[in-house]
Amino acid sequence: MRLLIIGPLEGQLTQATKLAMDGGAKVAHAATIEIALATLRAGRGADLLLADVMMDIPALLASLEAERIHVPLVACGTESNAAAAVNAIRAGAKEYIPLPPDAELIAAIIAAVARESTEFLYRDVAMAKVIKLAEQVARSTASILITGESGTGKEVMAKYVHARSARAPQPFISINCAAIPDNLLESELFGHEKGAFTGAIARRIGKFEEADGGTLLLDEISEMDPRLQAKLLRAIQERVIDRVGGNRPVKIDIRIIATSNRDLTEAVREGTFREDLLYRLNVVNLKLPALRDRPADIELLADHFVAKYAKANGLPHRTLSPDALTELLGARWGGNVRELENTLHRAVLLAEGDTIGTEAIRLPDGTGLSDAGPDPIGGLVAHTAQSVSRSLVGQTVSDVERGLILDTLDHCLGNRTHAANVLGISIRTLRNKLNLYTDAGTAVPAPGAQRSSAA
Ligand SMILES: Nc1ncnc2c1ncn2[C@@H]1O[C@H](COP(=O)(O)OP(=O)(O)OP(=O)(O)O)[C@@H](O)[C@H]1O
Ligand SMILES: [Mg+2]
Repeated sequence: MRLLIIGPLEGQLTQATKLAMDGGAKVAHAATIEIALATLRAGRGADLLLADVMMDIPALLASLEAERIHVPLVACGTESNAAAAVNAIRAGAKEYIPLPPDAELIAAIIAAVARESTEFLYRDVAMAKVIKLAEQVARSTASILITGESGTGKEVMAKYVHARSARAPQPFISINCAAIPDNLLESELFGHEKGAFTGAIARRIGKFEEADGGTLLLDEISEMDPRLQAKLLRAIQERVIDRVGGNRPVKIDIRIIATSNRDLTEAVREGTFREDLLYRLNVVNLKLPALRDRPADIELLADHFVAKYAKANGLPHRTLSPDALTELLGARWGGNVRELENTLHRAVLLAEGDTIGTEAIRLPDGTGLSDAGPDPIGGLVAHTAQSVSRSLVGQTVSDVERGLILDTLDHCLGNRTHAANVLGISIRTLRNKLNLYTDAGTAVPAPGAQRSSAA
């Protein structure tokens, strides 16, 4: 993942930079907000901004919004900057990190934002066939459509293909079409010229140009609105794009990979997806089988996640008991690999014996929420699906957030540090929220405990 650090690089911010690099992030630095904006406009993008709280963060966020640049921002500063921290959060910063930085916190943030790996683990013959096809086509420039249920590994597969193509040294840029509002997506993809709309105070390079020479992943393509589909079709057919408000076409050389967990032929029939675009994208279709249809992968991935989360949480490595494995092999895995990963993360935290037994494995009760499609908060919905038997519609965001936080805390047996890690928020944010809940009269699990009503 690419991190852009904004502010004078002194002492503690330098330390944060080092920790981020150790964690595998590609770090760039901008001394001022103007330089940061120029960097982003130039298409040298970032997945996350880490800004010194003493910078004018409200102004930076306002510029990003006006210029339709979509990137999350985390503020950081020392304890004595409390008022500035509050301002930053009010203005829309996602999070506040206290300095000096805590290595674990930085690692957790990077992990939450990045989830990056080009490693594609498999052992099952069903997957081996898909991998064989992927390797055959990786070196061509053919567009690829990767389909499969939610959580089957479409994004990991896209990275795998890029890593095995001649374009591997060039950028791999991904954009989630479902996560970005329609009016921003166009700028995000194609960039814009100065004056294209109110707020467009300078030229900005979009993802297409940023990915030049490399691979562009259009994630959840079925969610793209028809007008943009037309523009995308032209880009693919003619290998040129038009920046928003621009009148000179720009040549591009990219390989497109698109993903969808919806059946696009169906979407074509319903009239929500252009048939000509589907033909262009679907030169090769990699169909990822559901996890339940590749039992050998369940075992391999389960062992992998057990080792990964023991290490990440500083716990001794333990193996799965034979009973636990049997249970995993028989489960439905509506949320596929992501659900398996969350289940085993939880199991590693809950297991008490020398091996990880069935008592530590908590499978969803079949309410099927984990089947839900695009999932902006990573695996957390799948993670807590078992305890969310009610419909989310009709609840406020803060209701859902409270439920998610308390359920996660239950799963982590009240352990604040683990829960914050799993939630991808800072321990400080978690504590603040819990204090608010307690003040409002809601029972909060004590460390080492679960609420009595919990599963
Ligand atoms: N073969 C694999 N090897 C290692 N990790 C995997 C594999 N497949 C999936 N994962 C892990 O499972 C999680 C989900 O994978 P990914 O995000 O690629 O799924 P997806 O199909 O894109 O899901 P969605 O439809 O919800 O976007 C990730 O954390 C990923 O690292
Ligand atoms: Mg995905």
